[in-house]
Amino acid sequence: MLNIEQFRYGDNLGYLIYGKTQALVVDGGAWQKILSFGQKNNLTLAFVTNTHQHYDHTSGNEHLLKATKAKFLGFVDLTDNKEIHVDSEKIMVYRTPGHTDDSVCFHAGSTLLSGDTLFNGTIGNCFSGNLKSFYLSIKRLMALPDETIIYAGHDYVRDSLAFARHLEPENMDIDTFWNSYDPDDVSSTMAEERRINPYLRFNEEPIIKLLQKNRLPLSTEWERWKSLMSIE
Ligand SMILES: [Fe+2]
Repeated sequence: MLNIEQFRYGDNLGYLIYGKTQALVVDGGAWQKILSFGQKNNLTLAFVTNTHQHYDHTSGNEHLLKATKAKFLGFVDLTDNKEIHVDSEKIMVYRTPGHTDDSVCFHAGSTLLSGDTLFNGTIGNCFSGNLKSFYLSIKRLMALPDETIIYAGHDYVRDSLAFARHLEPENMDIDTFWNSYDPDDVSSTMAEERRINPYLRFNEEPIIKLLQKNRLPLSTEWERWKSLMSIE
């Protein structure tokens, strides 16, 4: 089985996915903490990689690569459905363009490292400008089972939930999630996302009513999602 350790630096969240002896670093901005965790647990850092190439996610790469013999996996190495092996256990790569063209997610066991594609309670900004591919990436992640644990690239929980409440004032699941929020272990399950994250709720009645009230196009899923993205 693979384990996950979360490393906060500011509101950024980076990760180590590790087995008994090997580890993969994803977004290692907290490189000092990661190195000492690796040492303490006798782990060989085998790979260093990123969910996308924004500097707040890649800032630890050089330090980690200098301090270890880890192999760097860049975007060209992260092809869709590629398997990365850590202690002969597999981690799947999903290309999820939208936030940026080079955004990827890492799926290990029942956990998903979702970068700035899917956050706990919201989704990323569409810096790529390609809303349609962002929508398809979100749809792809929505197909994951309820028990999937979402580990995102930032802790935006407070602001995300405030906005989700603004859109759906009567959704009590948002408050339930806020009450279980732990800044030392920021995550959610896909089941929780389906209950609280407006950008996954474009087929739910309260969201459809909201779109009607705003006189936005809503006849297809894609229209509803796009309309929802336009609400500020
Ligand atoms: Fe980003």
